[in-house]
Amino acid sequence: MTNEIIAKFQDWWNQAKADSSLKHKGAMCVSTIDEFGFPNARFVDLKAATEDGFTFCTFLDSKKGLEIEQCQKVALTIWWENVGYQTRVQGNASRISRSMAEKYWKSRNRDAQLTTLCSSQSQPLLSGQQLLDQLSALRASFGEAEIPIPDNWGGYIVEPISVEFLTFSEDRLHLREHYFHSAGRWNRQLLQP
Ligand SMILES: Cc1cc2nc3c(=O)[nH]c(=O)nc-3n(C[C@H](O)[C@H](O)[C@H](O)COP(=O)(O)O)c2cc1C
Repeated sequence: MTNEIIAKFQDWWNQAKADSSLKHKGAMCVSTIDEFGFPNARFVDLKAATEDGFTFCTFLDSKKGLEIEQCQKVALTIWWENVGYQTRVQGNASRISRSMAEKYWKSRNRDAQLTTLCSSQSQPLLSGQQLLDQLSALRASFGEAEIPIPDNWGGYIVEPISVEFLTFSEDRLHLREHYFHSAGRWNRQLLQP
């Protein structure tokens, strides 16, 4: 990604974070493609945005994880209501390294780590109580010991091929700046609202 794009994204994200009552300031919708060609969209926490791409963490064997293994083409959508900015990204997702995943794992609080350990994300839930029982058993068995990163937990980085920045306008004349990668370079165009 060019410096120009990442700098703009960082600037917008900082503005959104600075003046917001939102609790989840990194909430980002990730769309993947299922085996029938249907898009599947859900929110995750954006962990980092760098020149290499956009990183989020999840279970590698969740629905989204399995879908990404089949089709790396994903879309990211973010709406920052307090500043009126929307960002849309298309790109290719790949797994982050184990050492990066461990870094993010260590940044999670203990409760989140324990919950992650006892959940088989995206699988049918037979009993909520069973999950709670599992959680307290895990909490007791780990005590104060360090909780290791599960093999099926990690993250993805999305390397963009297209990024669109939309500045919302009440009169609906939104400003749309579209950056797209083509013929080996990044191009910029404005789009009609
Ligand atoms: C604000 C918000 C943040 C979330 N962050 C994450 C996240 O970082 N990673 C994750 O796996 N799920 C996260 N979730 C839960 C996902 O939306 C989703 O339910 C879960 O990942 C399972 O999706 P899947 O079955 O399509 O794989 C978040 C949900 C919300 C509402």
